[in-house]
Amino acid sequence: MSSISLLNVFDSISFSWKDFHSSKVLIPSSLFEYHTKWMKVALTASSILCTIYLLHSHASYNDNIPTVNRRFALEPRIFVRLRWAFGSVKILDDAYEKYHDRAYRLARGDADIIVLPSRFINELNRLPQHFISSRKSHSKSLTGYLNGMDVVQTTNHHVKMLLSRPASQRIQSTITELFPRDTDSWNAVEPVNKIVHCISQAITLSTFGPPICDNPKLPILVWLLPYKWRLEQSWKNLEDFVVPEVESRKADPNRVKEPNLISWMLAEAKTDGETDGYMLTRLVGSVIAGGTYSSAAFVTGVIADLIAHPHFLDEIREEIRQKNDEVQGNWDQSAFNNLDKLDSAMKETSRLAPGSLLVYSRVMENDCTLSNGLELKKGQLITTSGHSASMDPNVFPNPEEYDALRAYNQDFERHRAQPFRSVEGEDHRWGAGRWACPGRYIASIVSKIILVKLLDEYDFEFVGGKRPKTSVMHEFVFIDPATKIMMRRKKQNSGIMY
Ligand code: HEM
Repeated sequence: MSSISLLNVFDSISFSWKDFHSSKVLIPSSLFEYHTKWMKVALTASSILCTIYLLHSHASYNDNIPTVNRRFALEPRIFVRLRWAFGSVKILDDAYEKYHDRAYRLARGDADIIVLPSRFINELNRLPQHFISSRKSHSKSLTGYLNGMDVVQTTNHHVKMLLSRPASQRIQSTITELFPRDTDSWNAVEPVNKIVHCISQAITLSTFGPPICDNPKLPILVWLLPYKWRLEQSWKNLEDFVVPEVESRKADPNRVKEPNLISWMLAEAKTDGETDGYMLTRLVGSVIAGGTYSSAAFVTGVIADLIAHPHFLDEIREEIRQKNDEVQGNWDQSAFNNLDKLDSAMKETSRLAPGSLLVYSRVMENDCTLSNGLELKKGQLITTSGHSASMDPNVFPNPEEYDALRAYNQDFERHRAQPFRSVEGEDHRWGAGRWACPGRYIASIVSKIILVKLLDEYDFEFVGGKRPKTSVMHEFVFIDPATKIMMRRKKQNSGIMY
């Protein structure tokens, strides 16, 4: 019945509840049914409204922290998630412009996470160790429940043991094997995939040591997702290597003294769980998977940025040539550490294309009140926007512009004191504090070993004149592994050999 005919019905009958109760009015049965029906509708509507209100107040927060990327409290997560997946840079830029030095709550779709201004990092670093957990947060962001990485929640054994063991000769022979030798023609090369192999040579050496690191069947665990079944198979293959190896090392005390991650982990284990072969498989697998692609994408990014800015490429090549002459071809750790211009270019690429837009992601393990009165509750996820910090014009003038020698020219003394591998950078490229990236020494030296060799030995061009695209999905920044660049081996190069 329409609302007009409804009004007509009421007009035609003089009705009062009093009369109704004293039964002086005889209501036609059709009208009574009609009323009952509308009362039911009203009751249903009010219970729906009450439920919405209760859900809404449950979903909203009462803590004065503004929420970003959720349009209304009950917005379905899928919309929140999609906006974050494809528009994270804009979301963070808008939030930084609006809130700058204030904390805000970022709706990511999987969870709501408090984004703190970077200035709180020092304060959080001073909290007792058991107050915040980085591993719970890594496990969550890397969907640990899907890929087996959630083992990192139960131990930090691998992080404590991760030390730098440069493996320049292995990298060199992999470069020789995988990159074109031809000096006459250009070849389209997939740099990410090839560099993954070079880096994995170094990482498997430091993780397993010989002879297992040379076994061609050792799986390269690079991709965490999306093919769970493929990953499961890779884990299984890795277990077949690691478990018997662990048992044989446990049986021979001399083998535990070998200089590689597995032996160090066995030697330093405090509990039985920490010597368990299956547990160790997951830990070393997490290290390999986490460090390999990030470093390969980074090295490719440095090369791409330099191809796009040839005057910087020339200057850095000159620095490499001079260093090679100075050390007379003897590339030791200190030679790599003294490439100040290359180091500055590495900082610039990682500032503009970090592995993740969010850094210092942690889970609060205790309630805590920050110096500005902000209350963080146990279980709360927190993070900082490394992206916003590295694009702050007060810290990095003309932040959008690529300037390979920015750090080198801005403050040379500081650049030397806080090189690329240092954790002191303003852009927090390695995170910060106790749980900053433990692989940064490896990542830094391995990247330099590869860059020195490739930049000196090859000419580069973009396919179709276009720089390979850096993509962002959620907070993760990456280069498509199928990306190609043109490479031609130079007829004249310094002939650097490690
Ligand atoms: C350019 C390459 C790399 C970048 C940009 C990078 C960056 C990061 C960042 C930002 C974090 C989080 C730190 C924090 O939240 O404070 C991290 C954690 C970690 N990284 Fe790296 N990383 C790289 C290479 C590597 C390599 C080569 C390895 C291993 C060989 C590695 C192993 C790890 C591990 C195990 C963690 C977790 C530490 C923890 O327990 O909290 N990373 N990395």
